[in-house]
Amino acid sequence: MKFSLAIASLLVLPFAAAAPTCSLKSSSAASATTPTSTATSPGSTSTPVNPGKGSVAMAWFANWHTDYTVANITWKGFNRMSYFGAITSAAGTAIMTVSDSSPSGPVTFITAAKQNNVFPVLTIGGWDGSIYFSSSISTSSNRTTFVQSIVSMVNKYGFQGVEFDWEYPGSTNGLSCNTESPQDTANLLSMLQELKTALPNLSLSAATPVKPWNDATGNPSTDLTSFAKVLDYVEIMNYDVYGDTFSKVVGPNSPLDDSCAAAADQTGSATSAVKLWTAAGFSAKQIVLGVPSYGHGYSISQSAAVQANTLASYPSFNTNTPVTGDSWDAAGPDACGINQPASGDFNFWGLIAGGFLNEDGSVASGMTGRFDNCSQTPYVYNPNTQVMVAYDNAQSFTAKGNFIKQAGLAGFALWEMGGDYNNILLNAINGAISGSS
Ligand SMILES: *[C@@H]1O[C@H](CO)[C@@H](O)[C@H](O)[C@H]1NC(C)=O
Ligand SMILES: *[C@@H]1O[C@H](CO)[C@@H](O)[C@H](O)[C@H]1NC(C)=O
Ligand SMILES: *[C@@H]1O[C@H](CO)[C@@H](O)[C@H](O)[C@H]1NC(C)=O
Ligand SMILES: *[C@@H]1O[C@H](CO)[C@@H](O)[C@H](O)[C@H]1NC(C)=O
Repeated sequence: MKFSLAIASLLVLPFAAAAPTCSLKSSSAASATTPTSTATSPGSTSTPVNPGKGSVAMAWFANWHTDYTVANITWKGFNRMSYFGAITSAAGTAIMTVSDSSPSGPVTFITAAKQNNVFPVLTIGGWDGSIYFSSSISTSSNRTTFVQSIVSMVNKYGFQGVEFDWEYPGSTNGLSCNTESPQDTANLLSMLQELKTALPNLSLSAATPVKPWNDATGNPSTDLTSFAKVLDYVEIMNYDVYGDTFSKVVGPNSPLDDSCAAAADQTGSATSAVKLWTAAGFSAKQIVLGVPSYGHGYSISQSAAVQANTLASYPSFNTNTPVTGDSWDAAGPDACGINQPASGDFNFWGLIAGGFLNEDGSVASGMTGRFDNCSQTPYVYNPNTQVMVAYDNAQSFTAKGNFIKQAGLAGFALWEMGGDYNNILLNAINGAISGSS
């Protein structure tokens, strides 16, 4: 899952820019509850559709799940996989979070990726792993120390790419104990250039918020052309646009579009993000759309949730009633040591395990579902538990795949490997991009 946060500042900032994403969460949080159905577990088993020709089909593999290790990865349908991974350290270096040859270790991962002809990338950072980015790159000598630690890891393990998932440069929207500076984005560029000089063949990329990184004035950058020269891709994390731990109303986790929503509800989307990043200097061919295999659950009474026999649009919810999502969700301390409630996140398989959806992804009997035509994403409500989930399904992944194709984007990146069920989401997006559905 992505994160568990209680950041007061998020409430007064544009949520889209603040949207936290692929995080590093302590492994202790991975299995506090047991799945409600033994028929449903993380993972996917059916025959995958191949990725569209020349298109990036990527996922992030999180190395902290005890019940989903490298051996569980279904590589088919992907051509790029990012190992999640490494974090920043107080010593100013990037470090691995698990031992080399453990079942989810980097050596195990690289061996399997190469056997499966999938391009192996190392992710550094994440929601819980970005604490020391700013201090690690703030001076020339610190940058050299940081870059050398990355070069050592790349050479040691054989990663062919490195992805920076800094949440977020020049912003207070990240974890509460992150180091930060107005010079973050400028320093990030210098660090990337130094790394590219050290390892010219390394594929560099970055996982980004929906709005371009802040410049020294604290506003989204309008000119990132120098970044576009050093980075192969940006993976725009178009999720957590709304979430139960930081929003005031139930909204789409991953809106394709929001221009048809009420003005106050236009907080970011794939279409607006692509406009902003291309205006800042990235070509569409360098943009990979981040897509979620999970949704956010919200506590909401039946009378507020269901109006005129359909699910209400952007309803308020019980902000003081945290929802616990599936078995990968749990409360616990964040990387600053501050206790956080459960995130309320349900993976796609978790929605099936939790009785919201049938095994084919359709809305289960007794639940109420709605497909929002504006965001092109579904909602489902369980009247028994009074939980509404804003999620993604085959229809929304098909819409996202069509958008990637029409906008000429590089491809997609799935957060996260293991969140899908029977490749329902993967097949939908690959099918749309390759034109076979
Ligand atoms: C992961 O793989 C192990 C070993 O093959 C297997 O026992 C386990 O059931 C798998 N877990 C999932 C979630 O598929
Ligand atoms: C340089 O790195 C060291 C080690 O991480 C750190 O203690 C120091 O604060 C950094 N310098 C700056 C100016 O951030
Ligand atoms: C980089 O790639 C090129 C082309 O594949 C190759 O000729 C060159 O030796 C590589 N350089 C390094 C430092 O690996
Ligand atoms: C949903 O949106 C599509 C395209 O934007 C439009 O063609 C269709 O008529 C809409 N459907 C409804 C029920 O509003």
